[in-house]
Amino acid sequence: MPVNPFTPGETIVVSGIQSSGTLHIGNYFGALRQHIALQKAHPSYYFIVNYHAMTTVKDAGELRAHTLDAAITYLALGFDPDRSNLFVQSDVPLLNELTWIFFCLTPVSQLEKATSYKDKIAQGLSANCGLFNYPILQASDILIYGGTTVPVGADQRQHIEITRNTAQRFNHSFCPEDPVFPIPEAYIVDSVAVVPGIDGRKMSKSYGNTIGIFDEGKVLSQRIRRIVTDSTPLHAPKDPDTDNVFALLRLFADNVKLEEIREAYLKGGYGYGHAKKELEQQILHHFAAARERRRELLAHPDYVMDVLRQGARNARLRADACMERVRELTGLITTYPA
Ligand code: TRP
Repeated sequence: MPVNPFTPGETIVVSGIQSSGTLHIGNYFGALRQHIALQKAHPSYYFIVNYHAMTTVKDAGELRAHTLDAAITYLALGFDPDRSNLFVQSDVPLLNELTWIFFCLTPVSQLEKATSYKDKIAQGLSANCGLFNYPILQASDILIYGGTTVPVGADQRQHIEITRNTAQRFNHSFCPEDPVFPIPEAYIVDSVAVVPGIDGRKMSKSYGNTIGIFDEGKVLSQRIRRIVTDSTPLHAPKDPDTDNVFALLRLFADNVKLEEIREAYLKGGYGYGHAKKELEQQILHHFAAARERRRELLAHPDYVMDVLRQGARNARLRADACMERVRELTGLITTYPA
């Protein structure tokens, strides 16, 4: 008889990486940076969520390209495949089985309240079933590996809450004495303020206001030139705390540099053009080593595929053990392996 697959008390870090567009500096400060740091300390399962991306991406070439791009970005930023697992979500198709089981435990009313669903509909996306059920697939993503710690951006708080409810519902219905699923916690770094996009709204692919992690040259200069500022003239004092360029500089510049710029703002004679030049330098500098590694990875796609393959193998082993127990508990008879 299958036993409980997860060791109580063990920290397992789990998170999904979007593959619906090029990763930007909002993704970096909101999640990627924390992912890279945590995988050094704990066993981690990070997957590129191409099933989730299908709720909006309808082009095979685009989905494929963004999936590989996300993998390369992670490796370039320092993800260590000898310590942790990086893989493509759809390489663990068992996920869909768990998702079905969770569907049958989830009240429709809970999903109707999900703000990210309502937001996407408000932006004009069509209400397909995938979009509606997105949080349940996310719950499976986390629970199938026995995830306990989920590093995400603050906008994912509600999805993690839905995951916790789902785990509780399953445990309560099928194994109250000996719960299978740990109840995971969101790991949200609150000190990271919302990263503003070039129009001042939250940086988000859907607003088209992003700066890519690896933007450089003309593309980067142009994005930065378009950052919205007020019309205070060059000689006049400026308020750093209401300015978008300064808000971005805060993320990149060290304290000494930042203080220097703050004083220049307050004193006057320092224009937004100066601040933008500084920001461009800071971004280029911050990602310089990663940009170099990325170039190498782009030249070695087989290596990237090997990393993903090995990560998926490890993930499938864990998911398999989980599903054996789940089938047993729910009464799904299996006749294999014969
Ligand atoms: N919905 C998450 C986001 O938009 C991505 C995601 C999918 C995820 N599955 C996950 C995050 C599981 C954490 C855990 O960022």
